[in-house]
Amino acid sequence: MKRIEAIIRPENLAPLRQQLETLSYPGMTVIQVEGHGRQKGVSRQWRGMEYRTYFLPKLKVEIVAPDKAVRKILDAIVDTCHSGSVGDGKIFLSDVRDAIRIRTREKGDKALL
Ligand SMILES: Nc1ncnc2c1ncn2[C@@H]1O[C@H](COP(=O)(O)OP(=O)(O)OP(=O)(O)O)[C@@H](O)[C@H]1O
Ligand SMILES: [Mg+2]
Repeated sequence: MKRIEAIIRPENLAPLRQQLETLSYPGMTVIQVEGHGRQKGVSRQWRGMEYRTYFLPKLKVEIVAPDKAVRKILDAIVDTCHSGSVGDGKIFLSDVRDAIRIRTREKGDKALL
């Protein structure tokens, strides 16, 4: 099992969700976050003054999925969230030791599918 954490632009959530519907994915958690990458935010000029915004609103989409489902989910995220401009986001992948569906007490992959 893997945890996919994708930091994406908020406007990409709806297209991503639609794209994921065509695959088998077990569920997702969406969290409103703020952050910055290597550009450290954005700066804008206004009336000759420079204003810097360090943290930009993003969404974190978290999906815990069976190993065999991971590649297609990653492809769907990259395909729907790539514009080629800075700030498109990032995906972090990590191992998950176990999952439990509380209703049925199923564990592991069975708790996901
Ligand atoms: N190393 C990191 N650790 C944790 N969160 C990160 C990291 N890099 C990026 N993020 C999160 O992802 C969001 C989008 O990052 P962003 O796409 O700007 O990354 P980047 O490395 O600056 O790439 P790019 O040059 O394409 O902008 C950030 O606002 C932040 O929330
Ligand atoms: Mg950036």
